[in-house]
Amino acid sequence: MSKRRTAILISGRGSNMASLIAAAREPEFPAEIALVLSNKPDAPGLAAAKAQGIATAAVDHKIYAGREAFEGSLQKMLDAHRIDFICLAGFMRILTPSFVQRWEGRLINIHPSLLPSYKGLHTHERALADGVKVHGCSVHYVVAEMDAGPIIAQAAVAVLDDDTPGSLGARVLEQEHVIYPLALRLAASGALRIDAMRVIGAHGAPAAMVSPRI
Ligand code: GAR
Repeated sequence: MSKRRTAILISGRGSNMASLIAAAREPEFPAEIALVLSNKPDAPGLAAAKAQGIATAAVDHKIYAGREAFEGSLQKMLDAHRIDFICLAGFMRILTPSFVQRWEGRLINIHPSLLPSYKGLHTHERALADGVKVHGCSVHYVVAEMDAGPIIAQAAVAVLDDDTPGSLGARVLEQEHVIYPLALRLAASGALRIDAMRVIGAHGAPAAMVSPRI
């Protein structure tokens, strides 16, 4: 089976991007990373991808009059690299419904919370403020509504008494690096089916995590 030509869209450091690039180097992986694209020309992740020999591009949102014009350039770049699957990895721009619709089923995102809790920004701060005992991350298909699409994979971490947003975020990030390659593998291989909000076909869940431990 030919590999899905995948673009990773980033805005910053690109640690999730790096985990996807590493996974995609495995011969049997169903996706190849054909492009890393950033809306910020100085994103550290762009330089890191380039250093690994991956094609990179910057489409600076600031020079466009509006979202449609920005996304028009984005689409041209994706077409030029014959991309047919997109991973958002810390891409901090909201995409228009028409862009999302065009990529429906081929556009996934990672979010640092157990969705549908804590959509949006500052997820670790908000989880700590609410006193939740379990927090985590999710990979989901992107739909027009932000952070709301069918969930492919999630990982949970226990919240510790002395956690700060930084310490909690670091443990969540470790899990992001586990579930994003897993989710891309499943989604790109065609193993998944979407039934309303449920993604079917992602088997292999471990035993439940309970916090505090019993
Ligand atoms: C990650 O924690 C990702 O989940 C989050 O941004 C970080 C990017 O880090 N994404 C969002 O908040 C999207 N709403 P990275 O550049 O090191 O992958």
